[in-house]
Parts: sequence; C-alpha cells; structure tokens
Amino acid sequence: MIADAGVLNEQQRIAVAHAGGPLLIVAGAGTGKTRVLVERYRRLRQEGVPAEHILLLTFTEKAAREILDRVEREDWLPAGERWVMTYHAFAQRFIQEEGWLLNIPRTFRIISPVREWELMRDVLLALRPPHLFHAQRPHDRIPELLKLIERAKQELVSPEEFSAWAAGARAMPDTVVPPGVADALADPLVAAQAEAAGVYAEYQRRMLAEGRLDFDDTIFYTVRVLMQEPAVLRRQAEHFEHIMVDEFQDTNFAQSRLIELLAGDSRNLCVVGDDDQSIYKF
Ligand SMILES: Nc1ncnc2c1ncn2[C@@H]1O[C@H](COP(=O)(O)OP(=O)(O)O)[C@@H](O)[C@H]1O
Ligand SMILES: [Mg+2]
Repeated sequence: MIADAGVLNEQQRIAVAHAGGPLLIVAGAGTGKTRVLVERYRRLRQEGVPAEHILLLTFTEKAAREILDRVEREDWLPAGERWVMTYHAFAQRFIQEEGWLLNIPRTFRIISPVREWELMRDVLLALRPPHLFHAQRPHDRIPELLKLIERAKQELVSPEEFSAWAAGARAMPDTVVPPGVADALADPLVAAQAEAAGVYAEYQRRMLAEGRLDFDDTIFYTVRVLMQEPAVLRRQAEHFEHIMVDEFQDTNFAQSRLIELLAGDSRNLCVVGDDDQSIYKF
C-alpha cells in the first residue's frame, strides 16, 4: 500500500495549489508526480468541486485503481460519480453513449487479439493484394499489417485518408500523414501502400459489421465525434472542469488530441510525466 505520508516539497506544493489553466510537470520516476495529482484532486474536492467534474486519466487499470484508492482514502465528502479511469475505459464509455452518432451500435464489443488476426487473414484471403499476399505464405504479413493499422488509428488517420494519401490524391487538402505512419510505411510495405490502404478499409468495414472495435478505435471515434459534433464537445468540455493525466509521456497523438478537446477553452489541464522517455513533447 502506498502511504501518502510526508510533507509535500516546495514544487509539489506549488503544483497542488496551482489554480487553473494548463500545467505540465516533468520529473523523474519516483519523484512524487502521481502524489501531486492525488493531492490536487483532494484540494479541488475540499474546495467544493464535485467529483464528477474532475477527470483523471491513466494508462493502466492498475494505476487508475491505485489512484482511486489513494483519493478515496481521504475524501469523505459525498462523491457521486468519480472519473478516475484509463483512456480506454473513458473512450469505451463515451462511445457507448455517443457512438450512435457514427452508427456504432451500443452493444459493440472489444475485439480479441485472436479475432483481429483471423479478421486480417480473411481480408487478405478475400482481397489477395499482390504485394501483401503470398499463396504459399498467406500469414506472413498479418502482424505488420495489424501494426500499421494500429499506428494509423493512433495518428488519427482514417482508411479514407490513408487511401487518399497512398494514391497521392489531393482529395482532402489538409490530409497530412503524420511522421509515425510515414515511418511505418518506410519499410517493405512502401511498394504496397495503396494495397495496404485497401486492406485497412476492408478490415475496418468487417470489424464494424461484426459490432466490434479495438481499443484504438474507441479513442479514434471519440475524437471524431467530438470534432464532428460541436454540441457534444461543448457538453463534455463544460462537464469536466478539471482534467489531470498521469504518465503523460506515454500519450499518443490520438490521446493528446482527446485531452486537448476535452480541456476546451478553460484548459484546466494538469499533466505529469517522466522526462526520460517522452514520445510527444509540448
Ligand atoms: N513529499 C513527499 N514526502 C514523502 N514521500 C513522498 C512525497 N511525495 C511522494 N512521496 C512518496 O514517494 C513515492 C513515489 O511517489 P509517486 O507520486 O508515486 O511518484 P511518481 O509518480 O513521480 O513516480 C510514493 O510512495 C509517495 O507516497
Ligand atoms: Mg507516478
């Protein structure tokens, strides 16, 4: 059990007391960053902010559970609903509520890794893309194609945008394939970009037809709803007065976009992260 004993140091005190607006805290592992979030959460509660208006996002279930335990240990005020959870739990819940706007059934399920593999196998068997499918070794490309699609989703690149880009089309003037996806393509798949785009589209079509989504989809579609539906965005952004994120260095592009949208104009956003392994920087 982690005890939140010990007096906060000067920097922790400043961070906990920070009134509002964006705050980024970067420090090494074990320096008390998560503690700052816990103490900030408590301070906000003591100042009368309802628990349901504070969103605290983590990457792992374990971290969410641990922070929730730490928060609840000293928060005796009636809490109602707490929003201390992983990105995926948040996005899954959001899509259950709002996914109908994109024709996603409420009853969607998260796809298993085995089913992902099978789905890709079936797509390749159906499309038989010359550069990606080899009749004697039909499964060779499955892992890298699944990886490519995962990267595309994490960079918010839809099948349509991927196709447009692969075709060199200028159908969408503001379509820019981010470096992450460009890197993933700078390998043996380069010769097969257009084919890979077709595989992505068909894979996604079949997954949705089965009423399944993967974890990256839940975030991808959450961002899409928030961008397409100003009323939903306004409601969400107004609902969460304060947003906090633990382990921010692990944030991918789609997740950082989600946070940016939720933070809205008030931008009461407090994120903490390690400085030694950052993927995206401010
Ligand atoms: N000011 C402090 N005095 C004493 N112990 C602290 C202080 N701040 C944090 N700790 C303890 O140090 C440990 C690591 O803190 P944590 O917030 O999890 O660090 P980080 O998130 O930066 O890895 C925890 O057990 C925490 O309770
Ligand atoms: Mg921590």
